[in-house]
Amino acid sequence: MDKVKVMVVFGTRPEAIKMAPLVLELKNREQVECIVCTTGQHRQMLDPIIEIFGLDVDFDLNIMEPDQTLSMITSKTITGMEPVLEKTKPDMVLVHGDTSTAFAAALAAFYRKIPVGHVEAGLRTGNRYSPYPEEMNRRLISEIAEMHFSPTKSNAENLRRESVTGDIFITGNTVIDALHTTVSKSFRFYSDCLLDIDFDRERVLLVTAHRRENYGRPLENIMNALRDLAYAYPDIRIVYPVHMSPVVRDTAERILGNVPRVSLIEPLNVDEMHNLMDRCHLVLTDSGGLQEEAPALGKPVLVVRRETERPEAVEAGTVKVCGVERETIFRMASELLDSEEAYSQMANAVNPYGDGKACRRIVDAILWRFGFSERPGDFMH
Ligand code: UD1
Ligand code: UDP
Repeated sequence: MDKVKVMVVFGTRPEAIKMAPLVLELKNREQVECIVCTTGQHRQMLDPIIEIFGLDVDFDLNIMEPDQTLSMITSKTITGMEPVLEKTKPDMVLVHGDTSTAFAAALAAFYRKIPVGHVEAGLRTGNRYSPYPEEMNRRLISEIAEMHFSPTKSNAENLRRESVTGDIFITGNTVIDALHTTVSKSFRFYSDCLLDIDFDRERVLLVTAHRRENYGRPLENIMNALRDLAYAYPDIRIVYPVHMSPVVRDTAERILGNVPRVSLIEPLNVDEMHNLMDRCHLVLTDSGGLQEEAPALGKPVLVVRRETERPEAVEAGTVKVCGVERETIFRMASELLDSEEAYSQMANAVNPYGDGKACRRIVDAILWRFGFSERPGDFMH
């Protein structure tokens, strides 16, 4: 063997952002032939990321449908992957995280006995219904994968406790590699909705929310708490790039549509999103990725979920899990808006999730497996 053929599969926004620097690193190595396959699970939110990172996509399954069900994503990905794997015969398939694209692609590779590498392996809440269905997707991928790339030591410990098959590497999270390429103090916003923000006068509360387990009452509670905050604090601006899920869109529009100082905007491209995070005051989110990015940028994060699979920044003191009750969310956000001391206790840049070298470690580990290089050292926080 003179080259290892590695297929990278992704389909949603966060997977694309976190796999992009890995694709670039794989393409940089002469012992690797990198093939990129996207399922297109997120058609509109995915394409700008592919463009901004300059990724060449070899196969696009184009599976997305409005209001798609989990079974639709899973079945279309498995059947779509079959001819792609048959044609390309990769030596390894890399999947990311906990999406249905990742689970179904891993299963499709397993059906062909192709080894799977799992990037962002070992995160757990211990609750199979939260995040739903992601906790189960991630666990099932751990069963299938033969190489596990864990962002942190405690993620790797979770996998060792479960006695998973294969090799475990602690690499840091590739999202930190991505952040290093997007954030800059001289960055200029280009979307109209961001150009009129006066960051010196307005305290920007950056919001995202999209989790399926929050659909219904929890999402309404989150939106109502934001509404209460907008009326209570005349100097804040809530900037909320709304996820394209119709359920999320309808709820956001219904509760926040006409509230002063609430900007409901289209999803931002990743470069604007990361730089907005760098300049905002506070982040309120149920997103996984934002819980990793905002601490690295020194921004306090309130997580509007009941639990998190990312406890590291909670332990470091920059993230608080505040649940999904309207009054609790309002109270915890108010505390940070009212008290400089409470705010500055949380506003410390901490980076338990990586040092920007995760992709290098992952590629080195793959090359080690195929006999091309030494086993890489672990990321130490
Ligand atoms: C998916 C992932 C979740 C991840 C999230 C990131 C699963 C099961 N869930 O959830 O882990 O946190 O992505 O955002 O894989 N839509 C569009 N255009 C797009 C994207 C979405 O119109 O570019 C709409 C479609 O109507 C789609 C719906 O959003 O049916 C939901 O998308 P889907 O990928 O099914 O679920 P997410 O909640 O985005
Ligand atoms: N993001 C983005 N534009 C937006 C909202 C989020 O580029 O309008 C980025 C965000 O910075 C992070 C990723 O998308 O890198 C997180 O994706 P999402 O919240 O959809 O999924 P999760 O991380 O919860 O799986």
